[in-house]
Amino acid sequence: MFKNNSKFYITTPIYYANAEPHIGSAYTTVAADCLARFNRLIGKEVFFLTGTDEHGIKIEAKAKEFNKKPQEFVDEIAAKFQFAWDELNISYNNFIRTTNPKHIKTVQAALVKMRSKGDIYKGEYKGLYCRGCEQFKNEKDLVDGLCPDHKVAPEFTSEESYIFRASRYAKIILEKIKKDELKIRPQERRNEIISFYEKEGLIDVSFSRKKVKWGIALPWDESHTTYVWADAFLNYLTGLGWQGPEDKMPYFWPPTLQLMSKDILRVHATIWPAMLLSLDLPLPKELFIHGFFLVDGQKMSKSLGNVILPFDLIKRYGVDASRYLLMGAAVFGRDGDVSWKKLDEKYNAYLANGLGNLVARSTALTQKMLKQNLNLNKDAELKESFLEAWTFYINSLENLKIDVAISIINQQISILDNYIAKHKPWELVKIADEKVGKIMYNVLESLRHLSFMVWPFMPETTNKILHILGLDCQKECSLNFNKLKEWGRLNENTKINKEGPLFPRIEEK
Ligand code: MSP
Repeated sequence: MFKNNSKFYITTPIYYANAEPHIGSAYTTVAADCLARFNRLIGKEVFFLTGTDEHGIKIEAKAKEFNKKPQEFVDEIAAKFQFAWDELNISYNNFIRTTNPKHIKTVQAALVKMRSKGDIYKGEYKGLYCRGCEQFKNEKDLVDGLCPDHKVAPEFTSEESYIFRASRYAKIILEKIKKDELKIRPQERRNEIISFYEKEGLIDVSFSRKKVKWGIALPWDESHTTYVWADAFLNYLTGLGWQGPEDKMPYFWPPTLQLMSKDILRVHATIWPAMLLSLDLPLPKELFIHGFFLVDGQKMSKSLGNVILPFDLIKRYGVDASRYLLMGAAVFGRDGDVSWKKLDEKYNAYLANGLGNLVARSTALTQKMLKQNLNLNKDAELKESFLEAWTFYINSLENLKIDVAISIINQQISILDNYIAKHKPWELVKIADEKVGKIMYNVLESLRHLSFMVWPFMPETTNKILHILGLDCQKECSLNFNKLKEWGRLNENTKINKEGPLFPRIEEK
């Protein structure tokens, strides 16, 4: 029931609804979208889940700061996330909000089940709590007494609480991580978690708060609300409609890939799998931890005034280029540093002068050729180069090497530029040499291949290139993947359509 190699269930973290999305959350979401689209392209059935995390003390306090009721406040922020993701052309299958009544039901049913297994007991929690992380901390986690992520001293909390017996599952989780049944990548992150288990083990976790009102009430004791992380993790079940009328769990569970950054790896590798084991559900196949983004070498923050919003990117570069620039900004899995200067340079080098210029030149040359009554003539000079590129490209994306896939696209663009430079079709056109038909066929057929390679990153660009090549996008995109990447599908009597420049050059800042 739970075996699904041809299915791909991918999740992003659900982002806190305390501020609008920035390029950090956009990075994870665009990456998830590219991987979702790639897997759709190669014929897998994909379910892509994202959403917002809307309960807890941090959000309650933020709403108060704006003089708003928490629900009113999170409604506004969730709408901003949805709007930003729609603008960025994110093809999610579900956008989950933790204040949705369906999710509240999931949380309550899951906690009741965990309690019935003897995994939730009444106790007392005494310790340090960081509101920024919404996590309990021990002294060892702090640097000079401060939370290293939020640079504030955690507050001391002591209260009656219902506790989750996570410790019960420590051994089995560690075993699964070591056997790669729960894969954690990159390797250094896996090592870090294994060493955490070996040195510190897994202790029971406080799962309810008496003092926090903005949360989901425990069904058996309404004076407590659910700990926000317990609530948040269960979104991955609600997102598939767990136990509801259209439950997709039997079909898609477990997640093939859960993306996040290092800030939330530890909770995902401890509390989350323990909850699943308590619920008798299989663990995710993989947690992939991408790097953290800095802007001009510094953490993004309102006070530094260096926060980059998705709309800032879209305004300057357009949707597709923004997606491409984000994905090319770092080695996937390593930290990255962005700056307007670097983004501008990359945009001009790879998109305006690269792909954009290649498409414009090829279109103009073919039109000149057709005017001279010279026809395209099927040829396969560049076939091998593209066959090989496809193999590397597929392999890179199957192994989550997003930046490598982008470099393969760039490499194919240079191969085409060099091919055109070598054969000088503009001279052949002038003297009406029929050889130009073969050369331009190679170029245009290569562009057809490139248009599909860029699809996960720049879907609108795919449509534009296919339109230029006189192909019906809907029809082409519904083709079986192996057909679509066969060499020679482009017709010799193709009519070339005009499009405006794909990526107009910009003045660098
Ligand atoms: N609500 C929790 C997650 C619950 S999932 C069950 C949370 N939210 S968050 O808004 O803080 O999102 C954290 C995630 O946002 C990171 O793990 C990462 O995916 C993304 N990023 C936020 N800022 C980022 C950067 N500056 N750089 C890269 N990714 C960033 O934690």
